Amino acid sequence: MQELEPERIARLEEDGPRVVLLDQRLLPYEEVDLVCTTAAEVADAIRTLAVRGAPAIGVAAAYGLALTALRGDDLAEAERELASSRPTAVNLFWALEQMRADPTPERARALHREEVERCHRMSAHAAELFEPGTRALTHCNAGGLATGGYGSAVGALRTAWERGLLASVLVDETRPLLQGARLTAWELEHAGIPHAVIADSAAASLMARGEVDLIVAGADRIAANGDTANKIGTYSLAVLAAHHGIPLYIVAPSSTIDLATASGDDIPIEERDGSEISTRFTARNPAFDVTPAALIAAIVTEDGVHRPPYAESLAPVGAAA
Ligand code: MRU
Repeated sequence: MQELEPERIARLEEDGPRVVLLDQRLLPYEEVDLVCTTAAEVADAIRTLAVRGAPAIGVAAAYGLALTALRGDDLAEAERELASSRPTAVNLFWALEQMRADPTPERARALHREEVERCHRMSAHAAELFEPGTRALTHCNAGGLATGGYGSAVGALRTAWERGLLASVLVDETRPLLQGARLTAWELEHAGIPHAVIADSAAASLMARGEVDLIVAGADRIAANGDTANKIGTYSLAVLAAHHGIPLYIVAPSSTIDLATASGDDIPIEERDGSEISTRFTARNPAFDVTPAALIAAIVTEDGVHRPPYAESLAPVGAAA
């Protein structure tokens, strides 16, 4: 298998009707569909990470609203339910906004298709940042599973690989839920891209040894000034990258840019249950962190490679959720 079909990751079946999601909690060991027959079930799938990754959450929510309309259920109630499922990824709110005027299956499928098209376009732009023999490092999963198809940061790796520019990828395992070790590694394996999973804490010493040429990561919300919320641990990587003179590139669709949020200080950060960290002791579990714009070498969207100052370069691009 080269690449997951978008419909395999998320789809709406009007006969039923139902939303079908590839259950990411069981990957890479089992490929099982999760069937949702109400918006409340879609919201629960988002909350419990059966579907995760900012653009994929938006796609699932769009299908959830279309499902609601097909069932003749209360759309406002469904929107409230979906909007309360997770707080950080702005794509969720963007998708609900996009669907409000036209909550039809056609609109939801178009939104999904357009997100995947954006991935292909941003990946082509991002691949321009690679040189022959590039050794990349990535964090969490920003592959097709996370975006509805192809991937953002992993899409950049795919395109760079196809162009003969990528030597290998170090994959942060991404504690505590191991999106890197379970999902990114699985996607890279299927793409035939050489990779090695590392403990998150190994990144510093591998950078010090000169084994990392660049870092690519996705995003869950990019503020107007370029501050970027992404999976917890991205900020640590950014600080390490600055120390070692390694560029950190964020690759994300315009649906992730939130011009209504001025800076990272205003991005709501999800704090998940401590039991994901420890079932024996009290634990803190912030699921995301904010990387300051000053530590980001470029933000790549479907429109191109955006450089600082981001307040200027992102302004024409942002989707303004
Ligand atoms: O909690 P998750 O798995 O939904 O978080 C997703 C991320 O933070 C990913 O790192 C990703 O880059 C953003 S979505 C492409």
